[in-house]
Amino acid sequence: MDQINVGIIGMGFIGLSHLDAVRRIGNVNLVAISDVNHSQAKEYAQRFGIEKCYENYDELIADPDIRVIHNCTPNHLHLEINKKIIEHGKHVFSEKPLGKTVHETAQMIELLKKYPDAIAGVNFCYRMTPLVQDMKHRIKQGEIGDVLLIHGSYLQDWLLYETDFNWRIEPEFSGPSRCVADIGSHWIDTAQTVMGSRIIEVCADKVTAFPIRKKPVTQVETFSVQDDIKYTDVAVTTEDYAGVLVKFENGVSGIFHCSQISSGRKCFLNLEVNGTDGSYYWNQETSDRMWKGHRNTHSEIVLRNPNLMVPEVRDYTYMPAGHPEGWNDAQKNALFAFYEFIQKNKKHATDKADFATFEEGHHIAKVTEAILLSANERRWVSVDEIS
Ligand SMILES: NC(=O)c1ccc[n+]([C@@H]2O[C@H](COP(=O)([O-])OP(=O)(O)OC[C@H]3O[C@@H](n4cnc5c(N)ncnc54)[C@H](O)[C@@H]3O)[C@@H](O)[C@H]2O)c1
Repeated sequence: MDQINVGIIGMGFIGLSHLDAVRRIGNVNLVAISDVNHSQAKEYAQRFGIEKCYENYDELIADPDIRVIHNCTPNHLHLEINKKIIEHGKHVFSEKPLGKTVHETAQMIELLKKYPDAIAGVNFCYRMTPLVQDMKHRIKQGEIGDVLLIHGSYLQDWLLYETDFNWRIEPEFSGPSRCVADIGSHWIDTAQTVMGSRIIEVCADKVTAFPIRKKPVTQVETFSVQDDIKYTDVAVTTEDYAGVLVKFENGVSGIFHCSQISSGRKCFLNLEVNGTDGSYYWNQETSDRMWKGHRNTHSEIVLRNPNLMVPEVRDYTYMPAGHPEGWNDAQKNALFAFYEFIQKNKKHATDKADFATFEEGHHIAKVTEAILLSANERRWVSVDEIS
């Protein structure tokens, strides 16, 4: 099978995780990286034995050796870079959220119509966790009967203090939504995946707990802790929390909340699905186990076990039971699905992808904007109202 040469733009927190993931997939060759922080990128290139390191991402995009490009830059660069990748006739794997706004994501969807051979994935990676895939297939097979409800949350605490700051706070970099676009979007994608149905209506409340935050005069790396910092006051418009009632296309109701100010919670993404014949509960912080609830007999803890999973999931789980798999493995699974799609010469027009597509990223951007509109106008909003 042909080797696929790959480049990564943006070598911050998530760029390094992509680097790790692509290296775990066969027939994929990481040949170049690029970051505005060129000295850091050069250090990575040397440390990880990557042949080329570009200061300017345009050079990486134009490199004729490269067929697939990962866009791991902050949100405000997703449209600009994704467009250029597609226009150069290359495949793109973009970070989420797909764009800052629906106006931006719609432009990518329009552009892809002109490039039907371009494969375009977006990194909603939690859906690729083995037990989430297992839950999806089991629900589809009717194992818990008819689905009645879905509920859950994504809670973090890394923006709990007014001195916590990151580019995600500022709408020019993140977009008008922060907490929903950044982590609520992961809950939305995971929930839509297990339900096999999309959110079509929302009713939301949102809170900006810190209308003023103290911004360090120099930027602090995502999730890092630093002392002796000088600050300047910044007015904040993006939300720290949102609570959302949701309606799915298949008629099922649900509710989720997301927060970046919940002390003690780190990456607490969880969901529970209640059906007529049982329930499932899964939390990504304990991603190798799932609770299965019964009314008339003891409830069970299901441990990830490749031998007991539905056959459709076997490509997405590697370790024997007892050796934990986690978030990095889900990332790798997302990329495995993406590269397999390319290697099998599949097309978006005819083939269903397991990884999240740009079209799905666009829908999630619409749900995100519907949530903001609903909270601002204090009413139910149909996702169709957003264009
Ligand atoms: N899928 C996930 O689970 C997940 C997790 C974390 C972040 N993300 C997404 O990944 C993206 C990046 O987030 P992060 O946490 O890695 O941020 P980060 O701030 O840690 O890294 C961003 C990197 O992009 C670089 N960059 C900025 N402008 C650039 C340019 N013009 N050219 C090249 N490089 C440039 C920065 O120097 C930095 O190294 C965001 O869109 C975020 O939502 C996704």
